[in-house]
Amino acid sequence: LQSEEIEYLISLFRSIPDFPKPGILFRDFMPVLADPRGLSLLIRAMLANLPVSPDEIDVVAGLEARGFLLGPAMANALGKGFIAVRKAGKLPPETLSQTYALEYGSACVEIEQDACAHGERVLVVDDLIATGGSAHAAAQLIQASGASVSGYSFVMELEGLNGRDALEQHPVSTLFSMP
Ligand code: ADE
Repeated sequence: LQSEEIEYLISLFRSIPDFPKPGILFRDFMPVLADPRGLSLLIRAMLANLPVSPDEIDVVAGLEARGFLLGPAMANALGKGFIAVRKAGKLPPETLSQTYALEYGSACVEIEQDACAHGERVLVVDDLIATGGSAHAAAQLIQASGASVSGYSFVMELEGLNGRDALEQHPVSTLFSMP
């Protein structure tokens, strides 16, 4: 992307103080999707910034919910399929589950047991990496199903949370880093 295009994309992000809790600066990328040029630029930028070559990706996995908005468009452009990493209790059996720690408490994500074929190489997609907990849990599920993680693609990286450290073994790419 050209620098004017990057600036246009950045101008579409919205930052909301004290949402959903006091002290959190919520980074909202929905206005990017709502804008026709923004949506097109965002998907183009994600594809131009993959963490690995497209020939090292067999399938794209998106994290609920905002990864569902990016993953299918990226997968389609790459000529690949898409699988959903869902919050617990949404998918019919048989599923694989993985619990992970949140700032307070824990959460659980699931995939269908046969969502990926044995040996498939999976690109994990989400809008934002904070601590990396949910993306790491997704990777554990993918590996538990006999597939492997080729890398991770995010739109935004929140600085100071060391989210990349949680994903150490595989390449990570992000378009923007925000405080
Ligand atoms: N997920 C975790 N931290 C976030 C933030 N600051 N904005 C949007 N989504 C988030």
